[in-house]
Amino acid sequence: MSNIYSAIKISDHVYWVGAIDWTIRDFHGYTTPRGSTYNAYLIMADKITLIDTVKAPFKDEMLSRISSVVDPSKIKYIISNHSEMDHSGCLPEVIDMIKPEKVFASAIGVKTLKELFHNEHEIIPVADGERLSLGNMELTFMETRMIHWPDSMFSYLAKDELLFSQDAFGMHLASLERFTDEIPQATLEYEAATYYANIVLPYSAVVLKALDKVSATGWKINIIAPDHGTVWRKDLGKILELYSKWAGQKPTVKAVVVYATMWHSTEKMAGAISEALAGEGIKVRLLSMNETHRSEVVYEVLNAGALIVGSSTLNNNILPQMADVMTYLKGLKPANLIGAAFGSYGWSGESVRHLEEMLKEMKVEIAAPSVSTKHVPDTAVLAKCQELGKTIAASLLKRINDTR
Ligand code: FEO
Repeated sequence: MSNIYSAIKISDHVYWVGAIDWTIRDFHGYTTPRGSTYNAYLIMADKITLIDTVKAPFKDEMLSRISSVVDPSKIKYIISNHSEMDHSGCLPEVIDMIKPEKVFASAIGVKTLKELFHNEHEIIPVADGERLSLGNMELTFMETRMIHWPDSMFSYLAKDELLFSQDAFGMHLASLERFTDEIPQATLEYEAATYYANIVLPYSAVVLKALDKVSATGWKINIIAPDHGTVWRKDLGKILELYSKWAGQKPTVKAVVVYATMWHSTEKMAGAISEALAGEGIKVRLLSMNETHRSEVVYEVLNAGALIVGSSTLNNNILPQMADVMTYLKGLKPANLIGAAFGSYGWSGESVRHLEEMLKEMKVEIAAPSVSTKHVPDTAVLAKCQELGKTIAASLLKRINDTR
């Protein structure tokens, strides 16, 4: 095996031994223009311990990084904090190769790993709050179900005041820098927010509980080591505050107008609505699904208070680009939004009704009458669009005032 890869020390006893995926651009529907990393960590305790592994094709890179510190056969324990394939894909092969004394996962993790790999490896379940001695230090486990899968758990290494947080606090960002403070602030905040919006958002209620649960432990945490992206070692309050804010889903003075257009009629309506919203002091993001990726839409919706959606009618339905983003948004469960629908048509005009139904299914409160037009919008239709924008603006501002 080539040894071109090195481990990076992240604390007194812990090394990052993960893999960098420079080329991945799609993570089950979430676009990742900066690639990603699959982070694994090596604890150099009396019982040398590996925290998580990496996606299957990156096994040799991980083993090469481990070998730069210690012979992989010296690893005694493996902990699977999260069984999704990006962190367990090479686990069975690694177990066969290094034959650790013990492998641990949460109780659901044990079942999930069996369902994924259908092999006879013994995985030992650990309970919420259970401690595991590594000889000269110990790990404590905390169940964090649904961040990101039912099996997920955190592991805390008191000796180094370090929290292994698996998917939480991660980001899809390929880099040879290993710490967040080495990444430009704007890149960091954008990628952390995009990751939250596209991965963690549906579990926001669980995130709030997990933040409280961690806080209640009294653990001293100086380093947060997630399973994707860079490691947090400075200003940890910032990312904890951001998670609290994103999970809280409080509406802000921002509207996202998302549309797809066939012959620019729906586009003209979107423009009129957006200008009216901005005229009332609302921040607006106007996104054409003819040009925008769904991941960008959910990133913008993360801190918005209104979602206004438009589509031309195509074959009695909405345009496929809108069906795509509406399906994606519905699954990610953004909360506390108001909204409305608009669109144009040639003869039947079902798009607006479909969009309104989809908004209702997403629990978006319809706060203005929808607007639709046959063919090209005239002055009267554009005035109705402006009215829609003003109505949404008034409703959003009232809602924000009421919740202050
Ligand atoms: Fe990075 Fe849920 O796996």
